Parts: sequence; C-alpha cells; structure tokens
Amino acid sequence: MATPVIDIRKVHRVYESAAGYAHVLKGVSLQVPRGELLCIMGPSGSGKSTLMNILGCLDTPTSGTYLLEGLDTAVLTDDELAELRATRLGFVFQSFNLLPRATVLRNVALPLSYTDVPKAERRERAEDALMSVGLPPAFFDHRSNELSGGQMQRVAIARALVNDPAVILADEPTGNLDSATGRMVLETFERLRAQGKTIVLITHDASVAAWADRTVHIRDGRLLTDEEEREAVRLAGERGLT
Ligand SMILES: Nc1ncnc2c1ncn2[C@@H]1O[C@H](COP(=O)(O)OP(=O)(O)O)[C@@H](O)[C@H]1O
Ligand SMILES: [Mg+2]
Repeated sequence: MATPVIDIRKVHRVYESAAGYAHVLKGVSLQVPRGELLCIMGPSGSGKSTLMNILGCLDTPTSGTYLLEGLDTAVLTDDELAELRATRLGFVFQSFNLLPRATVLRNVALPLSYTDVPKAERRERAEDALMSVGLPPAFFDHRSNELSGGQMQRVAIARALVNDPAVILADEPTGNLDSATGRMVLETFERLRAQGKTIVLITHDASVAAWADRTVHIRDGRLLTDEEEREAVRLAGERGLT
C-alpha cells in the first residue's frame, strides 16, 4: 500500500495551565491517502482546531506520532518544520487571513518569500494560482479588502496553492460565506482534489461534509467513522438523549 500523506497514531494533546490540565485530544489515529478529500466534522470545542494545528505542524502532540509524507515530524527542528509548512502544506482559514491593504497578487505571492523561488518567477506563480481558482485577472491588482467574501476566499486558496503543496488544510473555509459562495469554494476544492491534492476540510456543517470522499467525526477529542457516528447517534436516540 502507498504511504499515506498524513499518518497520525494515538495522538494526545494535553494543555497545561494554572487552571490545571485540559486533555483535548485523546488518542486520535488517522491515515489520509494521497488525493483524498477528507472532512473532519464535530461540534464547537471538540478539538478540531487543535487537531488541525498538529496536522499543520503548528503544534506538536503531547504523545503519539505524526508522519507527514512518511517523514516523522518529531525529529525535525523548528526550522525544518517551518520549511515543511512553507513547501508541503497550504492553509485556508474561515476568516481568510489576507493582508487587507495589499494587492491580491501580493497576498498570493507572500508564501513564496519564504522559499528560494526567484523574484521574477513569483508573480507568474501567483497569477497561475489565481487562474486555477477562477479569479478574473481584472482583480489581481485590487487591494484584497475591495473584494467580496467569496473572492477573498478564492484568493486565500490561491495563496495556499502557490507553493504547490501536497496537502491543503482548511479550517471552516465556508463558515463566513453564504451557501452559493460556499459552493463555489467547495467546487474549487473538488477540482484540486481531481488534480491529486490531498485536502483536509474541517467543518461543523453536514452540507459541506457531503462533498467529501470520507468523513470522520470528532467528539470530545476522539474520532469516530461515519458508521460509528451513526451508531452513536442511534444509541443516544434509544436512550432518549437526542
Ligand atoms: N491553548 C489552550 N489551552 C487550554 N485549552 C485549550 C487551548 N486551546 C484549546 N483549548 C480547549 O480545547 C478544546 C478544543 O478546542 P478547539 O480545538 O479549538 O475546538 P474546535 O476547533 O473543535 O472548536 C476546547 O475546550 C478549548 O477550550
Ligand atoms: Mg475551531
């Protein structure tokens, strides 16, 4: 079997503070093959962003392992992790996280400033990424705060793509969009998946999860598959808990 792009095993994350310990991830294991569009669904506070931060190498597990494209992330230095984030991972957020006063092109080219891509090539790469998400060239020199929400999210996806990453991690990417605009964004992810990108999409919205190849549910720091989730819901119903 081919090496999964993402392979986490028995990952725990415990936050320690003056208030005590918060055991947020409780033994999460997950393998994501190349080219999958995976949805992680769960209610607010279930640990989605904590898991996403670990998948994005922005945080490290308290225990357990994370292999990214077969590489054990535990042995990497901070610089190596930063390089991995810059070259292998693309991030998309609910709130877009664009520089509001910078142009569309500058926003998209920004991740390239952490790489050795020559300056002359950066504009071309940014334009290609914007074309691939379907933003018309007339907008390329606009400031990002002049765009609609749907256009901003397309710019953010282009920024996530500009380094040609293996994995795109999207945390509630349609959370701030109306359903028609959200649909456009999901169609963009679907096209990227067809091009072989691996996409992990976090949502609490079942209509978003309908676009996924596979959905796993996170409940109180533990993962359930679709079938396990249905069984849990059925049992809760029998006990009159829903
Ligand atoms: N830095 C932290 N310190 C302590 N607790 C945290 C920290 N970050 C998140 N948590 C707690 O972990 C739980 C899961 O948070 P999060 O991963 O953001 O959930 P979600 O994204 O599913 O809403 C919440 O109860 C939250 O309060
Ligand atoms: Mg969250």
